[in-house]
This record gives sequence, C-alpha cells and structure tokens, in this order.
Amino acid sequence: MSLKTLIIILSFFITMSIVFSAQAIHKIIPSESTITEPGADPEKLLEYITTYYPYRLWSLWPNKGKLYKGTEPHGALLTTFVNDTALDSIKKKKGMQDGSIIVKENYTADKKFISLSIMYKIKGYNPEGGDWFWAKYSPDGKTEAYGKVKGCIACHSQKKDNDFIFISPVK
Ligand code: HEC
Repeated sequence: MSLKTLIIILSFFITMSIVFSAQAIHKIIPSESTITEPGADPEKLLEYITTYYPYRLWSLWPNKGKLYKGTEPHGALLTTFVNDTALDSIKKKKGMQDGSIIVKENYTADKKFISLSIMYKIKGYNPEGGDWFWAKYSPDGKTEAYGKVKGCIACHSQKKDNDFIFISPVK
C-alpha cells in the first residue's frame, strides 16, 4: 500500500470518528433551548437544579457566606444559593422576578446536611402567596413537601411585604 493510500484511509477514519462523536455528544447534552423551566413539579425541579443547572455552582445569597447561622425550623447552619434571575432581583430591589429560584441547604450545628428547602417563583402559580412554589427534600433526594405548603406559607407570611423572604430586604 502506498503512503498516499494510507493517508487517505487514515483521514477517512479520523473524519468519521469526529462526526460520530459530535453526534453522540449532541444526543447526550441537550442544547440550552431544549431545557425548559421545570414548573410546579418537585421531581423536575430537583432534576433541573442538580443535573441541568447544578445549584452548588450558583452564587451564594449576597453578603451571606457558607454555613451562616440560621434559626428554627431550618437548621443551625444554612447555605443559600440563588440562580441568576434571583440574584438580579436581589440587586434591583424590586421584588423577586418570575423564574427566581432560592435553594437553601440546612445543616445541624455539627455540619450534618439535613435537608434542602426551595422557593421557586412561577408566574401565576399562587398570586396570594407571592407565586412561590415551595419544596423540601431529604438529603437523599426524597420529596418531603411541595407546592402551596401551608406550614411554609404561614411562617413566611410574616415577611409578605418583603416578597415572603426572611434573609434580607429584596424590595
Ligand atoms: C416557623 C417559620 C418557618 C417555616 C415554617 C418555614 N420557614 Fe423558611 N425561613 C424561615 C426563616 C426565619 C428564614 C431565614 C433563615 C433563618 O434564619 O433560618 C427562612 C428562610 C427560607 C429560605 C431562604 C429565603 C428566605 O426567605 O430568607 C427558603 C428558601 C425557605 N425558608 C424555604 C422554606 C420552605 C420550603 C418551608 C416549608 C417546607 C419553610 N421555609 C418553612 C422561617 C420559616
């Protein structure tokens, strides 16, 4: 076999392997446009914040570090993450915009992760409750509460004038 033939054959295989792997990657990773917002579904919400937009890569709540001191019922130590929409809302101080997601990790005093509490604003979901979708998960990802959760709303209503948010002023 001449060197030229060898080069032709080799370049054919290299080209084909690039084409196939590009197709395979395309199948595994959905493009931005195919990822839709999870809506009022606790399993989809959890998948969204763990698989598509891993919340541990989001910003922390401004001026709050990791494992800051919390209060009952959430936990002795808390770490709160916000998505881009929530972060933008906090900075603008005009209330939280639709699509804002706040993910709070709750820990015991000895730093044991005990649960995940989430507030997710969905346009038109619950106008009298600030349109917040509430969700709570155990550390292994089991849904413990979700939706228009009475307990969450009753307590957070103390902060109704601040869009149901305790941590700091958002208006
Ligand atoms: C008895 C009152 C009370 C109840 C019930 C309650 N929370 Fe909270 N929540 C708080 C307080 C107080 C904070 C501020 C952080 C802290 O100091 O613990 C907070 C903070 C939060 C935050 C961070 C944003 C903010 O408002 O500051 C989220 C998210 C949250 N709670 C979700 C929930 C969910 C989900 C439930 C129901 C499963 C719930 N909470 C039930 C009192 C409550």
